[in-house]
Amino acid sequence: MSAGNVRTLIWDGKALKLIDQRKLPLVTEYMICDSYEKIYSAIKDMVVRGAPAIGVTAAYGIAIAANQYSGKSESDFHDFLKKAIARIESSRPTAVNLFWALKRMQKIISGLQGEKIEDIKRKLVNEAEKMEKQDIEINKMIGENGVQAFRDIFGTKNKFKILTHCNAGALATAGYGTALGVIRSLADKGQIENIVVDETRPYLQGARLTAWELQEEKIPYFIIADNMAAYIMSKNEIDAVVVGADRIASNGDSANKIGTFGVSILAKYFKIPFFVAAPISTIDIDISSGSEIPIEERNGNEIREVMGAKIIPEYMPVRNPSFDFTPYSNITAIITEKAVIKSPFKNNIKKLF
Ligand code: MRU
Repeated sequence: MSAGNVRTLIWDGKALKLIDQRKLPLVTEYMICDSYEKIYSAIKDMVVRGAPAIGVTAAYGIAIAANQYSGKSESDFHDFLKKAIARIESSRPTAVNLFWALKRMQKIISGLQGEKIEDIKRKLVNEAEKMEKQDIEINKMIGENGVQAFRDIFGTKNKFKILTHCNAGALATAGYGTALGVIRSLADKGQIENIVVDETRPYLQGARLTAWELQEEKIPYFIIADNMAAYIMSKNEIDAVVVGADRIASNGDSANKIGTFGVSILAKYFKIPFFVAAPISTIDIDISSGSEIPIEERNGNEIREVMGAKIIPEYMPVRNPSFDFTPYSNITAIITEKAVIKSPFKNNIKKLF
């Protein structure tokens, strides 16, 4: 199977076109980002979302910033890039891929000090393109490792009913997806019976984005409201849970879309294997546990509204934490491109660095 029919981002040599994920699946529209400020807003306002997709977008943001600079002074050029990095860095706090990608671009810039501005511009574009390509390759490897992880746990069983939360698909990456990459790879082998898609309030990434991708790929699915998962699990309608991650601590605690922690507790209760699928770049080796992961609190209007329609008046107080973290003790395995990591997570994660 290809990376799928979905193009999350398209680089045209000058600007980055991003599929507007706020409007999917009812409207398919691309937003053109030809300045780093537009890249910043696209990430902040969730035109593009999902940890690896944010990372690749940020990398293109720096390439775009370099091309925006029309002066001749090398030191002004480097100051301009520094400003662009700081701006994009401030767009969202939880997905570590954003910071990972910007560090990678910064490393390229630092290594090119003293080179001609035009050469640096070209090399930054090359690096962003490379990152995009690598992300798709990595996701396909995660998919293959996922198939093996299922074989290890389930033996000869060869049809699975899987629950997923949020969207960790092609739309959340440069293509193919992480959690949905595992599902795509299983589907390629005819091993999917059904996907149960958590709607994922408040932003509905499950109902709007994951379901849309599955529909495009002709993989069987149905959508449930988030509070139906326990009932569906109790009816033996779920064999496994597969989710993505925004940041994984060095002990295996994994931050993902709000609600994932609850799903992991249910999975443990019903003895259902719970998999996290993510690239190595999602592991933040510098933090020791999930409690150190910054959790984004988004605008309360995302709770007060559904797709722009008000359901709660302005004066009612709300909370909108956008992520939670699942403790490693609730995770059966973390599927990466290099290895399927199992307990003891801390030791096994360390071996990969
Ligand atoms: O707020 P979002 O939509 O950016 O949150 C995305 C998620 O939580 C995804 O599950 C995660 O980034 C994994 S993406 C492959």
